[in-house]
Amino acid sequence: RTLDDLGDVTGKVALVRVDLNLPMQDGHVTDVTRVKASMPTILELADKGAKVLLLAHFGRPKGDRNSTMSLSLVQGAVENVLGREVMFIPEVSGEVAAQAIGILRPGDIGLLENTRFWKGEEKNDPDFAKAIAANADLYVNDAFSAAHRAHATTEGLAHLLPAYAGRAMQAELEALDRALGAPEKPVAAVVGGAKVSTKLAVLEHLVGQVDHLIIGGGMANTFLAARGVDVGKSLCEHDLAATAEKIMDAADKAGCTVHLPYDVVVAKEFAANPPSLRTCNVHEVAADEMVFDVGAQAVEALGDVLKTCRTLVWNGPLGAFETQPFDAATVALARTAAALTKEGSLISVAGGGDTVAALNHAGVADDFTYISTAGGAFLEWMEGRELPGVAALEK
Ligand code: 3PG
Repeated sequence: RTLDDLGDVTGKVALVRVDLNLPMQDGHVTDVTRVKASMPTILELADKGAKVLLLAHFGRPKGDRNSTMSLSLVQGAVENVLGREVMFIPEVSGEVAAQAIGILRPGDIGLLENTRFWKGEEKNDPDFAKAIAANADLYVNDAFSAAHRAHATTEGLAHLLPAYAGRAMQAELEALDRALGAPEKPVAAVVGGAKVSTKLAVLEHLVGQVDHLIIGGGMANTFLAARGVDVGKSLCEHDLAATAEKIMDAADKAGCTVHLPYDVVVAKEFAANPPSLRTCNVHEVAADEMVFDVGAQAVEALGDVLKTCRTLVWNGPLGAFETQPFDAATVALARTAAALTKEGSLISVAGGGDTVAALNHAGVADDFTYISTAGGAFLEWMEGRELPGVAALEK
């Protein structure tokens, strides 16, 4: 059920689970993307006359009140994005919360304290959830990025109150379904990042789902090593060579083509524009060199692969993109994907913290069909796992 299924909500108390786990530096919020994502849901409910209560976690305080993780710290940022006043309520349940909620008028917005200040949140304690639900009439989950957690406010509440998917949740689920649920074929996946070990389950799942699996980043070194390539001093999980082999065998059987770089950008030290920088064939990496990016020829070939595809799912950069010029492959392939998306020949979905940063860096994030704000939840979805927060809404 979505907000389209709401009846009259005038004066009703709507608990809206959002993701306010926002990046902070020196006490200031540095990125409000997640607030912007939930703005349509919050304003829609407020404009329909509900009393909107925002419910979210912040950091990992593990059941202790910790002033450095109070949601009061993000109240100003939320108000700025929404352009409305937001009343901070330093509790999530009980008398104090009930009194504060009583003061709210239809259309007002309240922000409850960090749900993880109470142990019941992560334990998914039904009593904790019941105490929160006692002050409310309905529950809206708009936090896909927290839906991989079976916590009281991401999962438990959906069983206690009439539950709805918010607009951001709805958009996310529709986009993800278009990408892997019922995608237009052929489908390509780009999986990058430093380590195979963090994305094993993703790779294992994807080989049975996609037609082309493009592996980049440090994890490509492990696959190259498994194929007998000497990657010099590169980051490489040699102990996972057999696992990489297995993934490549499974891909073969499933008719999925695995693309590994055949030229690479190498250097003897990791620094911006190092003097030892060069591009070479993967078989020519010297013993004292490290691979930091996919080479230009391979990127061009990968662009040609994308031209044959209808759907793209992207997680993880192709190189050490934060340091120049090791951003080149990620930027080039992202621009090709963005151009194909603009032409209408590709549906492109990307997610994961680094990935969004990399696509922003390439200046193409707005041109992708959909960019997920989720980190861990996006990965678990790519692993083909059921997300408890989503499953509870579907029940
Ligand atoms: C995130 O930032 O990815 C989500 O808010 C989940 O946070 P968590 O990993 O602390 O559960």
